[in-house]
Amino acid sequence: MLKLPKVIGHRGAAAYAPENTIEGIHTAADMGIEWVELDVKLTKDDIPILFHDETLERTTNGSGFIAEMTYEDIKQLEAGSWYGDSFAGIKIPTLEEAIEALIDRNLGLNLEIKPCPGREVETTEAALDLLSTIWDDHDRLLISSFQHVSLEASKDVAQDWSRGLLLAPENDEETGAEVINPNWAEIADYLDVKTINLSRKIASRDVIEAVIDAELHPLVFTVNDPLEARQFQSWGVDAMFSDEPDVIVENLLTVH
Ligand code: G3P
Ligand code: MG
Repeated sequence: MLKLPKVIGHRGAAAYAPENTIEGIHTAADMGIEWVELDVKLTKDDIPILFHDETLERTTNGSGFIAEMTYEDIKQLEAGSWYGDSFAGIKIPTLEEAIEALIDRNLGLNLEIKPCPGREVETTEAALDLLSTIWDDHDRLLISSFQHVSLEASKDVAQDWSRGLLLAPENDEETGAEVINPNWAEIADYLDVKTINLSRKIASRDVIEAVIDAELHPLVFTVNDPLEARQFQSWGVDAMFSDEPDVIVENLLTVH
């Protein structure tokens, strides 16, 4: 049975250490955070690595598309200086290195499958194949994605593992307002997910209640404001992703 914590460190603990790095995993563990969320992509030669963007510029000293880089290329890059001098020299981790650190620090994992375009199935298969060889604690593992094809592949590869459907805001054609995909419940049903991971922009009280009514767990990203976190908690949100997970943990009510 899925055992979600109330707060999940977003991309590790992104307010305190460079996102999607081993240092971020250790930072979350040092703060007593129970789970982290990490993004996985594939290199050109099919090695699963932790990375968020399609391109290298924002978080490394490299440039260009990650989908065009081999692991050998990735290893040459530096992924800490952009964040702060004290992180200079750190590397982009492989998923395998990250999993070893998570197991070592006894952390739960929400692995977000974030494929480069066209690599939805391969990314899922590579990540789940690896997890299946080294991850035992399925109560503390959630596979999520915005990509339906990736969740479908996840269901094919590991039907019993918990899946989460990520939902970003969509623009209403008439009003332009940011709304939830009106078909979310059918999609969730088809993909057989346990959680609905909502952008905070679409996590209204009505939406959260509808998710609960559908017997699914509502999760919300990315929540860095303690007051907002308390409100989500009062509406029945099971877990929140935060860049400052220690602050949110401290400010949530202990009795749900
Ligand atoms: O999984 C929650 C959140 O990480 C989704 O958005 O862009 O931060 O990966 P993003
Ligand atoms: Mg993510």
